[in-house]
Amino acid sequence: MTYLKQIEDHIDRFPEMPPLSQQLLGYLHDPQVDFTIIKELVQYDPGLTANILKLANSVHFGAAGKVSSLQTALARLGTEKILELVLSLTVSSRLKVSLPGYGLQAKDLLRHSIWTAVAAQELANLLNMKQVEMIFTVGLLHDLGLLLLDPFIQTERLRFNQAVDAPEASFEQIEQDILGLDHARAGGMILAKWQLTPEIVAGVQGHHQPEQSTQYQDLIFLIHLADMLSLSEGIGTGEYGLQHNVSPHTVKAVGLKKKHLEYVASKTLDKMQELEKILS
Ligand SMILES: [Fe+2]
Ligand SMILES: [Fe+2]
Repeated sequence: MTYLKQIEDHIDRFPEMPPLSQQLLGYLHDPQVDFTIIKELVQYDPGLTANILKLANSVHFGAAGKVSSLQTALARLGTEKILELVLSLTVSSRLKVSLPGYGLQAKDLLRHSIWTAVAAQELANLLNMKQVEMIFTVGLLHDLGLLLLDPFIQTERLRFNQAVDAPEASFEQIEQDILGLDHARAGGMILAKWQLTPEIVAGVQGHHQPEQSTQYQDLIFLIHLADMLSLSEGIGTGEYGLQHNVSPHTVKAVGLKKKHLEYVASKTLDKMQELEKILS
């Protein structure tokens, strides 16, 4: 059986979303949703309630005065932010695992994912691209495919190690050559199975080849850039993290200078420390 077929079988067995998250996502795709329905669903989950309150009061969500009621917190956050939060809490426990194939210790992937999500959002703010939807969520989920491919990389360790020694080898191309698909596509397949929106799936699927995407290009360029920034800061590099191709058009295409990138990196660090406390 080819690796591709085996990986597709693994996707079928990849854990579904918890039922509460699934129910919430169903409602949250509707921007006109009645928040009393969301409150009804959330209030019986003390952990989720506590985290919604913490996040509604956090710097990341632009708090203006403390809120203590769940209903106010939900209304303040709005559907997109609640969706971000529910997805963050749903996936954060999965992103904490160690991935020996990629040489990532426990929590490395979670840190890399949060860092990328926050940096992508900061970049969007800096470039006045606030209308880019779902950017935090895509940043957080962009490397979910690593979870799926890690056991196969462990099995093929020798071939991977040989392949990365070749000059200019890009890791996503090596994954494609040895396994039949790269982690970006694997992640997109998981998210499509979870029935997330097309922009989330496309954003994750395209994050290493932004110039090849035909849709949601702004979003994909920002995620790619935030991802590369995160790796260049040494966040979640693992064994092969620095072996990705940086899209030559990215920095130019989004019109950023070095000083902008440094500003984003330092702002990201502040915000991520707060988020890490909530999501770890
Ligand atoms: Fe990636
Ligand atoms: Fe990444």
